[in-house]
Amino acid sequence: MITTKDIDVIVVGELNVDLILNQISTFPEIGKEILAQQMTLTLGSSSAIFASNLSCLGANVAFIGKIGRDQFGEVVLQSLKAKGVDTNLIIQQPNLNTGATVVLNFDEDRAMVTHPGAMNELRLTDISPAQLSRAKHLHFSSYFLQPGLQKEVRELFILAKELGLTTSFDTQWDPQEKWDLDLAQILPYVDVFLPNEKELFKLTRKNTLTEAIAALPEKANTVLVKMGNKGSVSWSKGRLLSMEPFLNEEVVDAIGAGDSFNAGFIYKYIQGASVEECQRFGNLTGAVSTTAAGGTTAFTDYNKIKKIAQEKFGYAL
Ligand SMILES: Nc1ncnc2c1ncn2[C@@H]1O[C@H](COP(=O)(O)OP(=O)(O)O)[C@@H](O)[C@H]1O
Ligand SMILES: [Mg+2]
Repeated sequence: MITTKDIDVIVVGELNVDLILNQISTFPEIGKEILAQQMTLTLGSSSAIFASNLSCLGANVAFIGKIGRDQFGEVVLQSLKAKGVDTNLIIQQPNLNTGATVVLNFDEDRAMVTHPGAMNELRLTDISPAQLSRAKHLHFSSYFLQPGLQKEVRELFILAKELGLTTSFDTQWDPQEKWDLDLAQILPYVDVFLPNEKELFKLTRKNTLTEAIAALPEKANTVLVKMGNKGSVSWSKGRLLSMEPFLNEEVVDAIGAGDSFNAGFIYKYIQGASVEECQRFGNLTGAVSTTAAGGTTAFTDYNKIKKIAQEKFGYAL
């Protein structure tokens, strides 16, 4: 089967909306009511933020995911389309709710409650090899939020490799905190593994970066550890590279910083850039994300990204 690769990156992942509550006086308590002075309803989900921001950077991005046939589903579709993401492969299932996350923001940190709805229901059988083979790269995110795909994710990565795609994987946080994932089974088929520091510690059952990296499977390829306002560390072909952040001392919020890092990294990666170059650009797009509310606001259009990169971080795009 010879297919033209007309898609740069195909994203397989979860889709939901975020209801973000800001400027909250204190942490809520059962039986009491508190006020949030500001609120936004926006496209949520790690995978969607990644797809939108990558598209905004200039890559050709398509999405495979599952939503309901409801108002939140429309918000998801319209938001992705507005950013130029191809939504034709998104499945709308009438008997399911589109997932939603309520986010409570406290300075640089946040507490979240998610109703997964349709996110639970995406299966490998929903992903056609013919569609997958149209893409140059597969990104899969939020392993622990997609029980329907957990047993099949190894197969998905193997299929992608067989179809000639490069691959990346961000597990994201495990809300159940069981961290039941055998990295040795999966990482040989993952070209770029993108956990944050806390997630890497949980996944490897280690407490320091040195130990966690040493505990990675022998067949792991490139690993990028996102370290919040400490920047990032990459491990590739036995080489460890720690890179300072483009520090933003006036963080609006950190929602989607990791996904924006992933978008920047993969944007350069699909162009064949070196790990160092990809990592620097990931640090930049992660930092850009922290300059505006939510995960996609700083990425409204390419010129805006360019302006923030130049004026705030002295980086010429
Ligand atoms: N305050 C900040 N200033 C500059 N860059 C930041 C800041 N916070 C995060 N970043 C960048 O965004 C990347 C991802 O953020 P991080 O919080 O580590 O990811 P995640 O959202 O997955 O937890 C970091 O590796 C860093 O490059
Ligand atoms: Mg993350």
